[in-house]
Amino acid sequence: MCVVVDVLRATSSMTTALWNGCTGIYPVIEPSEAFSLADGAEVLACGERNGVRIPGYHLGNSPAEFRMESVGGKRLVMCTTNGTRAVRAAAAYRRIFIGCFLNAPAVASLLAGEGDDVTILCAGREGDFSMEDTLCAGMILSELEGEMSDAAVASVSIFEQYQDRIAEVLLESEHGRFLQRIGFAADIDYCARAAVTDIVPEVLASKEPPPHDLIIKARVDADTFGEGRND
Ligand code: MLT
Repeated sequence: MCVVVDVLRATSSMTTALWNGCTGIYPVIEPSEAFSLADGAEVLACGERNGVRIPGYHLGNSPAEFRMESVGGKRLVMCTTNGTRAVRAAAAYRRIFIGCFLNAPAVASLLAGEGDDVTILCAGREGDFSMEDTLCAGMILSELEGEMSDAAVASVSIFEQYQDRIAEVLLESEHGRFLQRIGFAADIDYCARAAVTDIVPEVLASKEPPPHDLIIKARVDADTFGEGRND
């Protein structure tokens, strides 16, 4: 099993969109892939390059944009620099889930229930280490038992060291500083909120050709819907 984590901001946005009634998300790598799918009515194109909305797309990648009134009942095609690329890189795993601080404990309890080997795939930043993804991986792994790799042990110790100041760590991270420079400071506070939903998105494979071959759907039933999200 694999959990893909891109706290700032892709997996936080995916979880928020599904929490707000989006019915499915197609992850793509190239911005042009969305245009064949999105119709602006049932299917919206969303995503970023250099942190801002891709020209011609309906939405960017700020979780604040994925409100019920904009994504409720709709599907999304999402293209981001690191997050959607990481989801596609995980395609070979038998089961793939989406993790962030918003749903970290729910992800951990699902994994504990499955009792299978777990890989946390941190999207990072253009192939580089990212503090926020590692901290989130540590939060999820700290709830699990069993043998751990050195990287997993390191992420748990980072979490134990910084667990009381997650927002601060995100604000001081490289990507956090970048997002503040381009006007998305509020997204960092939002993405630092821990354990606010028990929605655990799952990446499902279909027999259809790309970009329909992978779709991300919410696992938890609707009654968590409509309570206290990104207000
Ligand atoms: C990414 O996938 O690279 C990030 O989510 C980009 C962002 O939205 O800041």
